[in-house]
Amino acid sequence: MQARFFPDAPLARDVAARFGTPCYVYDAAHLDRAADAVLSFAAPFGLTARFAAKANPNRAVLRRFAAKGLHFDASTTFEAERVIRAGVEPSRVQVTAQMLGEGIERLVAAGVRVTACSLAQLERIAALRPACGVGLRINPGAGSGANNRTQVAGRDASFGLWHEQVSDAAAIARRHGIAIRWAHHHVGSGGDPAKWAAIAATTLSFLDRLPDVDTVNLGGGFKVARIDGEKETDLAAAAAEAAGLLRAFAERTGRRLRLEVEPGTWLVANAGAIVARVVDVVSTGRDGHVFVKIDAGMAEILRPSLYGAQHPIGFAAADGARPLGAPQPLLVVGPCCESGDLLTPAPGDPEGLGHRTLPLPAPGDLCVIGGAGAYCAAMAARNYNSIPAAPEVMQAADGSLALVRRRQTFEDVFRDESC
Ligand SMILES: Cc1ncc(COP(=O)(O)O)c(C=O)c1O
Repeated sequence: MQARFFPDAPLARDVAARFGTPCYVYDAAHLDRAADAVLSFAAPFGLTARFAAKANPNRAVLRRFAAKGLHFDASTTFEAERVIRAGVEPSRVQVTAQMLGEGIERLVAAGVRVTACSLAQLERIAALRPACGVGLRINPGAGSGANNRTQVAGRDASFGLWHEQVSDAAAIARRHGIAIRWAHHHVGSGGDPAKWAAIAATTLSFLDRLPDVDTVNLGGGFKVARIDGEKETDLAAAAAEAAGLLRAFAERTGRRLRLEVEPGTWLVANAGAIVARVVDVVSTGRDGHVFVKIDAGMAEILRPSLYGAQHPIGFAAADGARPLGAPQPLLVVGPCCESGDLLTPAPGDPEGLGHRTLPLPAPGDLCVIGGAGAYCAAMAARNYNSIPAAPEVMQAADGSLALVRRRQTFEDVFRDESC
């Protein structure tokens, strides 16, 4: 299992003193280890490992992963452009998007690979005649995610081409004289590893109708354990399952498919934390609750409010002199004017309250939220309640800290208003 980066009290105090709170902190050594693990995903006929940039598109993360040898998946043309501007060769970037937005023609001309996610997208990309051919994201008819909101395949999901239309896609490609070179699926985030393999087998079964496919991309979705009790995907076991399927496919068809995977969460989630400060402690009486209010919430980390996601939380005395109080059941909330700005929801239930038994802090003490490297800085209710976006800091292997995104100023929040 991956180690979890969780700043101890001295590091939390150092971050707070130098960069203020709230502040994201990433551990470079953890990112490197995670990249190495994904790059050693064993594949019988070759591997391309991509980072799903949406999980954390900070330039420092992109550059680190690019130097390691990872390729990238982008969910929008903007994201693809951002990866390229971080210095990545366009041919190492793939767009798999709900919407082919601004600049797709320029990106294709530069060598970016596009995975068509519908018949209309396929028509559009085929007409651009990309030299590398085109990919096809298939909705294989079943998905697997940690919850309904992260399950992105099956009848209830709009992502990818419905599998019954694979022959229509092949006909479009033939009409344009272009090869569908890779088949792709991404069926959900944090889903059941056993289902991942079963769905992979389904996707391979469509390839008889796609004779030019030489690569299969099985997406991301590998689970991490952010908190004790959560089960992490065993990458080696997943690789062994995929390898078995690819070998069987090769024996049956003579086609030796290259494998692609594109995790986001697995590469970054447990490499990041948020350092925040306790701003208040309030109670709703004997039969009520004790709420610890901190200065980080849905404007920095939306996952608990959105999914009932569980993140490890700890407190540290501000100065080390006055100890924290005795442990007791607490609810931790953010500063936004929403009852949903709750950092301790019941597991999987954003509406429910999930008490944590933790030492009681006082205003001014520090709070650390772990598992915050993926879909936190990248996916928050940024600027809600006019809160300036928090900075991001990278800890190098020697322990030194570098600012990799400054805190927004208050003026940044409304700078673009034109009235
Ligand atoms: C197409 C695609 N690939 C990869 C991922 C990464 O998923 P995860 O962060 O669960 O690994 C996503 C996430 O939504 C995605 O949409």
